[in-house]
Amino acid sequence: MKDTPRYKNPALPVQERVNDLLARMTLHEKVMQLNQRPIGEDSNPNNASTWTEFDPLLGSVLSFFGGVDARNAYQRVAMEQTRLGIPIIWGFDVIYGYKHIFPIPLAQASAFSPKLVQDIVANSAVEARNETGVDLVFAPMCEVCRDPRWGRVMESYGEDTWLVSKLTEASVRGVAQASPNMSACLKHFCGYSASMGGRDYHATEIPDLAMRETYLPPFEAGVKAGAKVIMSSFNTLNGIPAVRHRGLLNDILRGEWHFPGFVVADCLAVAQLQDQGFTADAEKQATAALSAGNDMDMVSLVYLALEKAVQEGRIQEALLDTAVAHVLTVKFELGLFEHPYIEEPLPFPAPDLAKLAMDSALKTAVLLENRHETLPVPPGLRKIALVGPAAADCSVYIGGWAVVAKATREYTTTLRDEISTYFPGADIAYSRGCGFLAEDGDDEAIAAAVQAAAKSEVIFAALGERGNMSGEYRSRANLGLPGRQLKLLEALRKTGKPLVVLLFTGRPLCLQEVADNCDALLLLWENGFRGAAAAWELVTGKATPSGKLPMSFPRVVGQIPCHYNQRPSCRSLKENFQAEYIDLEEGPQYPFGHGLSYTAFGYDDLHIAKTGDGFRAEVTVTNTGKRPGQETVIWYLGDPEADIVQPQWKVIGAGQVALAPGEKQTVGLDILPDRDLAYPDATGRRQLEPGRFILNASRRCQAEFWL
Ligand code: BGC
Repeated sequence: MKDTPRYKNPALPVQERVNDLLARMTLHEKVMQLNQRPIGEDSNPNNASTWTEFDPLLGSVLSFFGGVDARNAYQRVAMEQTRLGIPIIWGFDVIYGYKHIFPIPLAQASAFSPKLVQDIVANSAVEARNETGVDLVFAPMCEVCRDPRWGRVMESYGEDTWLVSKLTEASVRGVAQASPNMSACLKHFCGYSASMGGRDYHATEIPDLAMRETYLPPFEAGVKAGAKVIMSSFNTLNGIPAVRHRGLLNDILRGEWHFPGFVVADCLAVAQLQDQGFTADAEKQATAALSAGNDMDMVSLVYLALEKAVQEGRIQEALLDTAVAHVLTVKFELGLFEHPYIEEPLPFPAPDLAKLAMDSALKTAVLLENRHETLPVPPGLRKIALVGPAAADCSVYIGGWAVVAKATREYTTTLRDEISTYFPGADIAYSRGCGFLAEDGDDEAIAAAVQAAAKSEVIFAALGERGNMSGEYRSRANLGLPGRQLKLLEALRKTGKPLVVLLFTGRPLCLQEVADNCDALLLLWENGFRGAAAAWELVTGKATPSGKLPMSFPRVVGQIPCHYNQRPSCRSLKENFQAEYIDLEEGPQYPFGHGLSYTAFGYDDLHIAKTGDGFRAEVTVTNTGKRPGQETVIWYLGDPEADIVQPQWKVIGAGQVALAPGEKQTVGLDILPDRDLAYPDATGRRQLEPGRFILNASRRCQAEFWL
């Protein structure tokens, strides 16, 4: 024990171990700790790259999906055949599942349930660790997203800062629940989601006030919840690329939030400083990023230039030491020195993944329209038509980010696979009608589908986006149904049969014509490997939809941004929305928080009382319909007399009740003035102004109170 170096002694404080190890490291060893790259194929298709050689001095490996044994074998080389035996930290994009795929994060947000998010994340993290040895999960993407043209909204928790913050915390907790040897990585820091026009990778202009109000809080919440790693983003923010944004990476992250972990640049982002118009000089790129506070480089290898820069005195080694210390701190804190290998498989927190997948797909579906109580369909149907390109296509359940599951339909079934279980003995006419692309299909195929459907008692049209139409580098300028699908729907409408649209999408779409051409519209998102069965459970009334939109659905693209939490205009014509355009109805097609049920809920008796440290609000929710159902009460705050004008409404809480027909229950909210009524200025300082506030419950009733 006497000769054991201090950094190998788990009984010592992390800081002491870091200092001891750092003092033993050569310059080259330090530089290598700041590099992350794949071995073999990069599993993320957006960063297609292949590395055949393996360097055991690497700080981190990403996207490795070669299995636990291979991972352990590489790790063994790092541990046993290098001078200091520093473990590699293994990162992977476990965004909403590994092999078993759950609903996409935007769908998860529709359930308004941190517990659901934590369950999905914990189980996915366990699977990824057991399958291929992941220490670092590149999620959650905790960017507030307000532009559905941007394909990556599917990875987000939507447009509301409170909701994104709560679900970010849940996701961070989920990874830690999977294993104390794992951490979440918050991404992308910061402002990437506001890229100009929703065009991926483009620059972002965000005023400081909006950063403080909207974009930074979920990251701060994630840091407080214990995320040990943050990924700096691709974008230029107000003229400064995020990987060299000292204000973000140094002043806010370290100075204000005291973040102890490390920052890794997004893939190739440091080298992309050239494209962004900073410099093509690798050393200048590396030193600018490092000195701004970006500790690790992902894939670009630009940080290798740091070695010479230090040797020749162009940057101080101390700068490097700070970054290496951040990386080592995380490795020590995660116990990687003591547990470098994947040993026993971890137990899944959920004993039955299929049940979790079913439950989450049920809770995340959002009923957008239901005219004449078309849903649930009556029992005993004998002739059913299932039409549309999404009916038998696995990609719509798996979505764009499931890098490992995409290749296989190992667990995923489709609507077509599942339909006969839910309508035993019925005569089912299936036809695709058209594809997802304009060139896939013709008028004849549509006519044939309509002819087949015309004989049925009900038509289910499975429509939407194919799984690869959202995600990274999947921006869209048109948000209607892609391809010939609207034509198909309009033709089906002419049959006069009850018409139910089952909608799959990774982003909000513009659905005016869709809504006009159907009786019921059930949004399923991209809803995971039990998503098809869940859809039929909902359609047949075995389960009741309860999801609420986490992001507004615009009527037309020209209306974007149309998120709910905007500042009021100077001429308010209506309470919620101002006259906006001479050629468009006001407000989005489906606002944030919209979501119907098969039953109905009444809201009464909203009252607000003063308590010792703030206020207590309560509202009575009654199930006034004929079926049991779950209601989410969304609490919106209005601050109509503020020094810095506040958004007309902002969410400060949400609560849920499950009610039998006729049953009522009180749903409460504690309001803490510093947390809920104060707001930040452009420097982040929070101010609390006495005065009048309005509390609104689910846009159904509201009451005033005074601070
Ligand atoms: C994405 C990140 C991802 C990384 C690693 C990048 O293209 O922007 O979200 O974590 O690749 O795969």
